[in-house]
Amino acid sequence: MIPIYTTYIHPSAKEIVGQTLDSTFISEGKKVKEFEDCLAKELGIVNPVAVNSGTAALHLACVLARISEGDEVILPAQTFVATALVVIQQGAIPVFADIKYNTGNIDPQSVKEKITEKTKAIIPVHWGGMPCDLDEILAIANEYSLTVIEDAAHAPGASYKSRMIGSISDYTCFSFQAIKHITTGDGGAVACLDNNKAQEAFTRRWFGIDRANSQPSILGERQYDIEALGFKYHLNDYGAALGLANLSDFKERLIHLRTIANYYHKELSNVPGIQLWDFPTDRESSWWLFGMHVENRLDFIKAMQEKGVTVSVVHQRIDHNSVFGGIKEDLISQQRFNETQIHIPLHSGITSELAAQVVASIKKGW
Ligand SMILES: Cc1ncc(COP(=O)(O)O)c(C=O)c1O
Repeated sequence: MIPIYTTYIHPSAKEIVGQTLDSTFISEGKKVKEFEDCLAKELGIVNPVAVNSGTAALHLACVLARISEGDEVILPAQTFVATALVVIQQGAIPVFADIKYNTGNIDPQSVKEKITEKTKAIIPVHWGGMPCDLDEILAIANEYSLTVIEDAAHAPGASYKSRMIGSISDYTCFSFQAIKHITTGDGGAVACLDNNKAQEAFTRRWFGIDRANSQPSILGERQYDIEALGFKYHLNDYGAALGLANLSDFKERLIHLRTIANYYHKELSNVPGIQLWDFPTDRESSWWLFGMHVENRLDFIKAMQEKGVTVSVVHQRIDHNSVFGGIKEDLISQQRFNETQIHIPLHSGITSELAAQVVASIKKGW
């Protein structure tokens, strides 16, 4: 079976991670700093603060944005549950906006309609790596003084109007979980446009202790005063070492993903029963997923399985979960999207031969 995801581990990883293990310094140290520097240099991410999951990055961003009890945060239902759980973690209320049928990304018009005096922030999710309509979202945020926290779990290396994702909104959150582009095992990073917020993030990711400025006393204990709530969210050095190995060829892998995505787009654009999603020219996806709409989805899934191709919806709308209050009936495009969306294999393990096999399998019909 051609898998829908892969866990990419660069050949150099064993040696690089091994060196860190041999050093016996495995907690957060030089490698994490090196990884952060590399994220900034290679991917144009501003002030990346590495943490131990994408969920931790999202939660930390909510803390930095002062999202608190009773605040409303607007986000799409087309995401993974983590995006909304962190809002609840802060005592705030996730408010689900509709999405665009042809991308799965949040619809700025719907965002506008959901704003109340309690709205504090917007969390756009770059579904599958395709950047959202950031100009429109940032204009709304500006008009209503809202914070924007991008959920870029799928979108490292993506760009919007020639600007790198991770350099545009107040906060941008990445995930380095096992099947993401750049895995650290589990991990994430929050990019902060504001330098002071980045400093705060460094402190809060480690219990609220300013690690760099808390020397041990003669008694042998680190001296500090915790001024604000902190968390155990730091990344560790062996995860960062794996991340560094995986970053070493990330740009080439991204080019490969784009080549395969272009090929899928060209080959599948006139196949009956398939409606491809938008392929805008003012932004570049990082192609974590290649999604489309398909007629008779169950038949399609079964036919692909028989031909050895795994396909998946990846995530259906999350608002049905009781913790989020159940399905929101007014999300019209979300409902249509949910019924017909499907993703075909696109990752570093998809060679041009495998991509041709995927296309041929689809063209045989279902
Ligand atoms: C859109 C989205 N946001 C957030 C997350 C959470 O990231 P992590 O698993 O690294 O905590 C994920 C998936 O894992 C995701 O797909």
